Amino acid sequence: MALTDSEVELKISLNQEAAGGAQRASAVFPKFPASYQLPVAASGDGAWIVDTEGKRYLDGSGGVFVAILGHSPAGVGEAIAAQAAKLNFAYSGDFTTGPQEQLARMLTAIAPKGIEKAWLTTSGSTANETAMKLSRQYHLLRGSPEKVRIISREHSYHGSTVGALSMTGSLPRRMPFEPYLLNFPKISPPYCYRCQFRADESNCVLQCANELEIAIKTVGAQYVSAFIVEPVAGAPLGGLTSSPAYMRRIREICDRYDVLLIVDEVVSGLGRTGSWFGIEESGVTPDLITLAKGLGGGYLPIGAVLAHERVHKAFEEANASVVHSESFTGHVLLGTAGVAVLEFIEKNDLLEHVAKLSQYLEASSARLADCSLVGDIRGRGLVRGVELVADKKTKRPFDRQERVSERVAKAAAAHGVLLLTGNGAADGVNGDTVVMAPPYVATETDIDLMVSALEEALNEVAAQI
Ligand SMILES: Cc1ncc(COP(=O)(O)O)c(C=O)c1O
Repeated sequence: MALTDSEVELKISLNQEAAGGAQRASAVFPKFPASYQLPVAASGDGAWIVDTEGKRYLDGSGGVFVAILGHSPAGVGEAIAAQAAKLNFAYSGDFTTGPQEQLARMLTAIAPKGIEKAWLTTSGSTANETAMKLSRQYHLLRGSPEKVRIISREHSYHGSTVGALSMTGSLPRRMPFEPYLLNFPKISPPYCYRCQFRADESNCVLQCANELEIAIKTVGAQYVSAFIVEPVAGAPLGGLTSSPAYMRRIREICDRYDVLLIVDEVVSGLGRTGSWFGIEESGVTPDLITLAKGLGGGYLPIGAVLAHERVHKAFEEANASVVHSESFTGHVLLGTAGVAVLEFIEKNDLLEHVAKLSQYLEASSARLADCSLVGDIRGRGLVRGVELVADKKTKRPFDRQERVSERVAKAAAAHGVLLLTGNGAADGVNGDTVVMAPPYVATETDIDLMVSALEEALNEVAAQI
């Protein structure tokens, strides 16, 4: 995930402390200003990661939602090593492979009915980029060459490549690259805590979903290719969820205007919510689903696009090729890693475990509402975000300059727990969030530790304000 300036600063200060201020030479092009060193990760142990100094960190967010099975899950690395010893590479234009075929079969078997094909990519960004291009080609093949624009939601994050960043709504992530980005419209997310339409539970008519119809009509349906939406949002929106009713309304609107529905399950997919896909609870079938992050178990960079039969049919009927590929599309080891991850989840009954642990996390984190900084707690499954406010009554966000979420995460890290931060949710610039997204293998003891560390961190920062 692309980091904003303030997140970079947090990393710098944490790393500076971890390195004891020492300056060590490194030939790695530094992501952060060159004078600082990252701690050196050495080994993993369930939800924990250990550095070369022996310091243990509870990975409260699996890095950036990646290490879903925790660190060094048994069997996954071995499966990859065994396959690597047999075959390193076979170009997807020349060959298919057993592991690619098996993963595609497994993914389409667990996906909503009608999803019949899978395309393997190397990240969430390239998965969304691929979905964008498949949508474009789909409409081209069906005689609608003008359907090119993709609608998405404010404050969303869909990836770092130009297409995916054009779909991204998060302003801090777009800002430096704005001159390169495509002109894609954005609508309001279902941000009930700060409802743009001043609705509450009693009078909500899903105006935020209806905004999609307004946007399509404003742009002109003949120009709209797809709408992309995440069932559970990542750090910028602090784990914001989209209700089943919202998803169903979105699906109806997409159908009405021949707009493809892309569901970005990069965060919510593969069991994060206690079911394989976040979209499942709504009963909605997307046209395209994107996955990434944990599908490689943290071992390999991976992504996938799952396509509904109707999308694939457009190519089949026209006998058309997909005009898009990467050298590593469908790579044999990506297939192997994905199969091993899905088997690990099944073998260890992790969907059931995640469902139970999610309830525990929700119940445990409810007490954070008593902290003076906490305005809202939200999320689904093993994603729990807290939104921090300067004034609970008026919901006034902190001024971004105060970097409150970074200070809270830094304080939690001092208690040995790593968490994600986001910003910009309230108005594009201000609006601090802190997100917990523990690996599926976490225990109730890990959750206790994580929530207590966050609680202490919140109280410590509140005392300084
Ligand atoms: C919802 C969502 N989509 C897409 C991406 C991009 O994935 P990647 O970083 O693997 O390119 C992310 C990354 O954080 C994400 O949270």
